[in-house]
Amino acid sequence: MQQVNTPTNRNVRVASSKLKALVCRIFVYNGLPGDHAEIAAHALVKASLRGVDSHGVARVAMYCERLRRKVTNPRPEITVARVTPAVAQIDGDNGLGLVVGNCGMNEAIAIAKEFGIGLAGVKRSGHYGMAALYILQAIEANCIGMAFTNASPAMAVWGGRKPFLGTSPFAAGAPSGSGPPFLIDMACSVVARGKLKFAAQRGEPIPEGLALDKKGRPTTDGQAAFEGVVLPFGGVKGSALSMLMEVLSGVLTGAAFGGDVRNPFTGLDGFQGTGHFFMALKADAFMPLEQFKERLGTLAARAKAQPPAEGVDQILMPGEPEALTESERSENGIPLTPDVVASLMAEADLADISIDFT
Ligand SMILES: NC(=O)c1ccc[n+]([C@@H]2O[C@H](COP(=O)([O-])OP(=O)(O)OC[C@H]3O[C@@H](n4cnc5c(N)ncnc54)[C@H](O)[C@@H]3O)[C@@H](O)[C@H]2O)c1
Repeated sequence: MQQVNTPTNRNVRVASSKLKALVCRIFVYNGLPGDHAEIAAHALVKASLRGVDSHGVARVAMYCERLRRKVTNPRPEITVARVTPAVAQIDGDNGLGLVVGNCGMNEAIAIAKEFGIGLAGVKRSGHYGMAALYILQAIEANCIGMAFTNASPAMAVWGGRKPFLGTSPFAAGAPSGSGPPFLIDMACSVVARGKLKFAAQRGEPIPEGLALDKKGRPTTDGQAAFEGVVLPFGGVKGSALSMLMEVLSGVLTGAAFGGDVRNPFTGLDGFQGTGHFFMALKADAFMPLEQFKERLGTLAARAKAQPPAEGVDQILMPGEPEALTESERSENGIPLTPDVVASLMAEADLADISIDFT
C-alpha cells in the first residue's frame, strides 16, 4: 500500500521534475515501454508547466483508463511509410496519441532536414493533448511547424445544433531569435466545454454567443448550455477551420472522420481512430536562419510597440502568455488543485507508488 503525504483540501505546488517522474512511473505501470512513458509524461507535465491545465497532468487518469480498458494500445508498432520523398504516412497502431503525435512530427522534421519541407499524415492514433507540443518539437529543430488533428464530436457545425465537429486545435509556430517562439495553439471552439460545465455546476450564466441549448436556441443559461452544444469561434470561420482539420487529419490520412472519432473520456468501447497532420518547413528555406529569426524578432518588437488599447497593460505575441507561465512555474512549481491531486493519488495507489505532495 502506498504512503500518502498530502494536503487534500488546498492547492499545492509541485516541482515539474517530481511530477514527471511520478507520471512516468504511472504510465510504465499501465504497460507503456519506458521511452514511451517518458514522452507521455513530458507531454502532460509540459502542458501543466505552460498553464494549459486542462491538457496537463489532470488528464493522466483519462489516458490510464483507456489503457486499462484496452482501448489504447500500450505497445504500438508504429509504422512509417514514405509515400513520396517528402510525405510520410504513419499508422499509429492505436497507441497513445501523445506518443504517436511525437513520432509524426519527428518524421516531418526528418523529411524537412532532407528536402526543406516534410509532411506526415497519421491514422489510428488517439487524443494528442496540447497541440503546442508538436510545434515546440519543430521549433527546437529550427523548423516552422504546423500541427492539425481531428477530435471527437463536441461542437456544432455552423448552422447545426448537435455536436459534430471536434474542437480541434489549430497550431503553428516558428523559432525566433530573442523572446519566446511565435506559437499559435487554439481550439476551434469559442470556449472550452469545461467552462460550460463549471458554469452549470455553479448555476452561473454564461455570456451570449458561446453555446446553443438542446433545441438549438442561443442560451446564456450555464446548465442549458452544458446540455446543449458549444459553438465554433468566429462563427462560420471556426467551423470551416475545424472542417479543414477533418479533411487533412481524417479524410486524407485514412483515420476516422465525420463524427466517428471516439470521445477520449466516454468512448470506451473501442479505439479512438484519431488522425493528425504535421508539417515541418526549414526556417532557413529562404534566407540564413539568423536572418529569419531577426526578422521575426523585428515583427514581434513592432507589434509589441503598438499603442495599447484601453485596459491593456502590454501587447503579447501568440505563445508569450504560456512562456511567461512556464518560467514562473519552473521556478515555483506547478499548482495542483485538490481534484487533480486526488486523481493522481488514485493512479499512484493503483500502481503502488508512494507519493509526497507536501
Ligand atoms: N487535442 C485535442 O483534441 C484538443 C482539443 C481542444 C483543445 N486542445 C488544447 O487545449 C489548449 C487550450 O486551447 P484554447 O483555444 O483554450 O487556448 P487559448 O484560448 O488559451 O489560447 C489560444 C492562443 O492565443 C494566444 N493568446 C492568448 N492570450 C493572448 C494574448 N493576450 N496575447 C496574444 N496571444 C494570446 C495563446 O498564446 C494561444 O496561442 C490548447 O493547448 C489546445 O491544443 C486540444
